[in-house]
Amino acid sequence: MGETVYLNGAFVPIEKALVPVEDRGYQFADGIYEVIRVYGGGPFRLKPHLDRLERSASAIELSLPPRAEIEAAADELLRRNNLTEAGIYLQVTRGVAPRQHLIPEGIAPTVVMTARAVSAPNAEIWQRGVKALTVPDGRWELCHVKSVGLLFNTLAKRQAHRAGAFEAIFVRDGIVTEGSSSNLFALIDGVLFTHPRDNHILAGITRGAAIEVAEQLGHPLREEKFTNDDLRRAQEVFFSSSIVEIVPVVSIDGRPVGRGVPGPVTLGIREAFEALTKKE
Ligand code: PDD
Repeated sequence: MGETVYLNGAFVPIEKALVPVEDRGYQFADGIYEVIRVYGGGPFRLKPHLDRLERSASAIELSLPPRAEIEAAADELLRRNNLTEAGIYLQVTRGVAPRQHLIPEGIAPTVVMTARAVSAPNAEIWQRGVKALTVPDGRWELCHVKSVGLLFNTLAKRQAHRAGAFEAIFVRDGIVTEGSSSNLFALIDGVLFTHPRDNHILAGITRGAAIEVAEQLGHPLREEKFTNDDLRRAQEVFFSSSIVEIVPVVSIDGRPVGRGVPGPVTLGIREAFEALTKKE
């Protein structure tokens, strides 16, 4: 059976799910999205994801379908594709209009949702950890909006990949912000640091869960800015995202983090996070 996707209220085979060439998402990256993990058939932390979608939408004055409609569509999409361990991609773009910069009033948004199986996340990257590359954060000032305008992020990811690294770490004016598709935590002198929630990072749902878990485990944690120099002397570093969950970083720009192996604080948080995904 082929893959079914959701498009503007209908469930259609993926090859028939077509969007007009003048959709503003295509021409202007005028749209927002969410990526939601599904464990055991249930979307993980759906409410915070939909809250964030609403914040993104209101930041760009985009109208959304009613929340109940999105929730029902997500359930139905999982059912139709027979998925239990999955990732849902939900995208809302401004809609279709003749190309012009001025955002037209009153056009209907284009709503797309896909769901794909996610293989049990790669145990190797958790056990061995990954390499990272720092790159200047040249993104715009609205990084809290989960915009489909991801060209800067994708170029950074490619740069990291070409350097043999798993992920890029953005540095803005000397301050470590986040990864190209993840948030970042660093254990510095026994305190876990992560960039505060502001317009320079995306407030990750996994970041939120990692903070909860770290606090439950009794780790001192500060949502405060830290510098690239601080990062270089961190004992442990990890990325968080809905897709990679919690991933230890064992080398940055070719230099080992701590002793160059995943550290106990990261592994403890990873384990507790995994337990949380099973519990919820
Ligand atoms: N990205 N920061 C950025 C820039 C991201 O793109 C993401 C996630 C995160 C982590 O957010 P969350 O924990 O809610 O997944 C942080 C998704 C996975 C993506 O674009 O595919």
